[in-house]
Amino acid sequence: MKIKGVILAGGKGTRLLPITKVTNKHLLAIYNKPMIYYPLGVLTSSGIKDILIVTGPEHAGHFLNLLGSGKEFGVRISYEVQEEAGGIAQALSLAEDFADEKKIAVILGDNIFEKSLSNAIRKFQNENIGAKIFLKEVEEANRFGVAEIKNGKLVGIEEKPKAPKSRLAVTGMYMYDKTVFEKIKKLKPSHRGELEITDVNNMYLKSGDLSYEIINGKWTDAGTFSSMLKASILVANMNNVDLS
Ligand code: DAU
Repeated sequence: MKIKGVILAGGKGTRLLPITKVTNKHLLAIYNKPMIYYPLGVLTSSGIKDILIVTGPEHAGHFLNLLGSGKEFGVRISYEVQEEAGGIAQALSLAEDFADEKKIAVILGDNIFEKSLSNAIRKFQNENIGAKIFLKEVEEANRFGVAEIKNGKLVGIEEKPKAPKSRLAVTGMYMYDKTVFEKIKKLKPSHRGELEITDVNNMYLKSGDLSYEIINGKWTDAGTFSSMLKASILVANMNNVDLS
């Protein structure tokens, strides 16, 4: 597999205080495993062998203690430290040397997918398109990046819109070609002071280089107490655990 993998596990985890005072959000339990095992599993099960984890300085050592070199998972894991939580795109910019001009599959450390994305990841390797995003219909679209689709064509993405134009959330799985890093360098911070991944995706969209897929399986993030609980229940159900 030529594609390399990137897991973004920085950020402050403020929505999960006080638990995140002493550890990193992505090390907390989702059912019976640390949160980061799930995005890691999405990448490893697709055959990706080279994986970079970007995390904040506060608890970076804990990731090393947990995941080490990646040998246990049959992959090679490298680490980068994001000094400040400057946004998802800023965290991704730290992967430029690691990517070494190859295509990358990027996944947010708090995203849990029920079904494998292996086929899409493998296909992207040989596709002649700059980027790909994965969409899923949700109840509260205003919590996410939201895609607008007209006649089957993706026409725009809005980050946490007050009046979402659809119920299709942009999940935290993205695939990019090597131009992603040039695009990030052109970004300006959003009103919340972050470099937004939605702005990167809209750049690809403008140049006709963004494709999308609506995923079949269930999906949730795990960045709030209620979504963490939802994620644990999703994983327990995937493992046929009786929760009654
Ligand atoms: O989960 C999908 C959503 O993730 C998308 O629909 C949105 O478009 C996207 O902006 C993002 O929204 P969130 O508000 O949920 O992102 P959050 O700030 O919670 O960050 C999600 C993950 O990204 C987090 O678990 C770790 C990583 N991250 C985030 C920031 C802000 C970093 O690695 N560094 C950062 O500075």
